[in-house]
Order: sequence, then C-alpha cells, then structure tokens
Amino acid sequence: MTSTNPARPNLPPPEMARRQAEWLAPARRWLLEQAELNWRRSVLDLGCGFGSVTPELVAGSIGAVVALDRNWAALHHDPAPFTGAVTSCADARRLPFADASFDLVLCQLALLWMPLEATLAEVRRVLMPGGALVAIEPDYGGMIEYPPEIASQDLWMAGLRRAGADPTVGRKLPGLLAQHGFTVKVELLNRLSPPAPERLDLLAGLPLDTTSTPELNRIERAAAALTGAWEQVVHLPFMFITAFLPRNAP
Ligand SMILES: C[S@@+](CC[C@H](N)C(=O)[O-])C[C@H]1O[C@@H](n2cnc3c(N)ncnc32)[C@H](O)[C@@H]1O
Repeated sequence: MTSTNPARPNLPPPEMARRQAEWLAPARRWLLEQAELNWRRSVLDLGCGFGSVTPELVAGSIGAVVALDRNWAALHHDPAPFTGAVTSCADARRLPFADASFDLVLCQLALLWMPLEATLAEVRRVLMPGGALVAIEPDYGGMIEYPPEIASQDLWMAGLRRAGADPTVGRKLPGLLAQHGFTVKVELLNRLSPPAPERLDLLAGLPLDTTSTPELNRIERAAAALTGAWEQVVHLPFMFITAFLPRNAP
C-alpha cells in the first residue's frame, strides 16, 4: 500500500500525484485551451505539490511560471518538474505577490485543502483584469458507488474534514467566484473509468477514527473480491472551472 503520509494528508506520494494528473490531463488540456494558456505571460500554479502540472504550464505559456506551495519538501523533492519555473514556498492565504501580477492561475486538487474565502480573495487580488482562474476540484458529496459493500463516501467525507479539507468544495466554487466578479464556466467530468484500487490507499492516508479503519479494511476486501468487468462503479465528480475576470475589472 502506497498511502499518503499521515503527517501530510494533503499530498499524495509523487507517483500517485503523477497518475492523478495524467488521468485529469485531457480535461485539463481543454480547460487551459479555453483559458488561452498560449497567450498567457504570467502563470501561477497554486498548490503545485510536486509539480505534476507545472511542466504543462511552462511548455504552454509564453511567459513566466511560478509554482507555489507551502510545503517546502514538495518543492525540493525533485527539481525536474520545476524546470523553467520559479518556485515559491508560501501560504495561499497571503500570496507574496503584488496586485495584478498574474494573468492565469491554476489550482488542481488544491482549493479543497485551502481556506476557501481567503484564498479566493488572494487569487482575485493577484489576477490582472482579463485574467483567468482554472480550477479542477472534486466534490465528494456527489460520489456514486456500487455495489453498496464498496461504498466509502462516508469515510472520505469524515476523513477529509478531520484532515482540514472541504470535501464539497466543488459545488461552492462557482457561486463564490461569481461573487468575486468572475464570469464562470463549469464542466463536469463526463467519463467513467473502472475504479483504481489506489483510491483506497489515498483514503487510508487520511486521519481515520477507530471505527473507520476496520470499515476501510472491510471495503478493501470487498473491492478486491469484485474482479469482473464493471462489477464496481465508482464516480467522484470533478468540477472543471474556467473563471474569467472582465478586461475592465477594477
Ligand atoms: C493534493 S495536493 C495537489 C498538488 C498538485 N496541484 C497536483 O495536482 O498534483 C494539494 C497541495 O496544496 C498544498 N496546500 C494546501 N494548503 C495550502 C496553503 N494554504 N497554501 C499553499 N499550499 C497549500 C499542499 O501542500 C499540497 O501540495
């Protein structure tokens, strides 16, 4: 089992982060195209982790890329993904940048871990008029799981909350961004894949209580026993958001 470090439940191991990023790549490519990455001159990868998306931003934009995370170890684990970018170790609640410094901000699987109101206010502050936020965030409150013996939603919701995350961040983002003056477009993941067993490793890395751990072990055994095609259906809704600031925004 390659579970998340319990001391850092908000950061899966590098290989798992890479696989998550790969799985989200087609939708992310499309979103970044909508946000006109190829014309962007100053891009912020907010909550970049090990930099699983940073190389795409460096390759696809025409200016500077800053990869920011508060986790120093993630930024220094492997310099390769940060080639061509500048790293910044800082907290999303107090971004160390002047107003209107960026024309694109990307957040992938990061906002759920951040204090939402304070972070969105900072994103709004550092974006220039005409700038865009691309956000790829889940909503565990809308999970579909079948058959019932593999249902893990309650454990996710409780474990994420206990770890300080907001498991239903996805549904909150569109309205909050609109309140901050953004024009918001939202897509939902339209692809259902057979579930990856690693999802339960991620769950095991959350701070579970004494009743959750045996329950998770039971779910793992039930899931492992269902080996036939489509014997298990698991869907975690992802919100794919492009939010634009008007060119004449104050
Ligand atoms: C699940 S990881 C996502 C990493 C990367 N975006 C990816 O898709 O692979 C969430 C990241 O957000 C960072 N993070 C959480 N809260 C933060 C905060 N307040 N300020 C800056 N980074 C934060 C964590 O350190 C972690 O690296």
